Amino acid sequence: MTVEDVKIIELPKFSDPRGNLSFVEQLNHIPFEIKRTYWIYDVPGGESRGGHAYKLNKEFIVALSGAFDVVVDDGSQKKTFSLNRSYYGLYIPNGLWREMINFSTNSLALEFGSEHYKKGDYIREYEIFKIMKGNGEI
Ligand code: TYD
Repeated sequence: MTVEDVKIIELPKFSDPRGNLSFVEQLNHIPFEIKRTYWIYDVPGGESRGGHAYKLNKEFIVALSGAFDVVVDDGSQKKTFSLNRSYYGLYIPNGLWREMINFSTNSLALEFGSEHYKKGDYIREYEIFKIMKGNGEI
């Protein structure tokens, strides 16, 4: 996997004077079966989260409220995606280093995962990630 495999996906949006509506479906807008959903909230403005890679877990991130940047890194190239609308999602395949930075105050990040939470699926050290990426382990 490389940063070229990371995709911004535009979600359906029903604009309505009563309030807008968007939705996501697994194996449609989200290109995997969802096993887990979690959300990150009450992040102090300017904070960062999630400096790690997953061996297997694929994810799909939506900025339901506010804004933040997701930096993805495949060991040789980095790309930054800014999320600031609730009708866009970011698909990140497994095997990439990712970090979420520049959270605006009151932002809400909704994340869908292809795997249940497993501590052993995380690579938390960048140097180890680089080695594993270099020898094709991930
Ligand atoms: P972690 O993934 O380390 O957060 P970050 O986004 O900063 O990398 O998760 C923080 C804590 O929450 C960690 O102790 C494990 C727990 N956690 C779960 O129990 N289940 C989950 O699905 C997630 C995402 C985290």
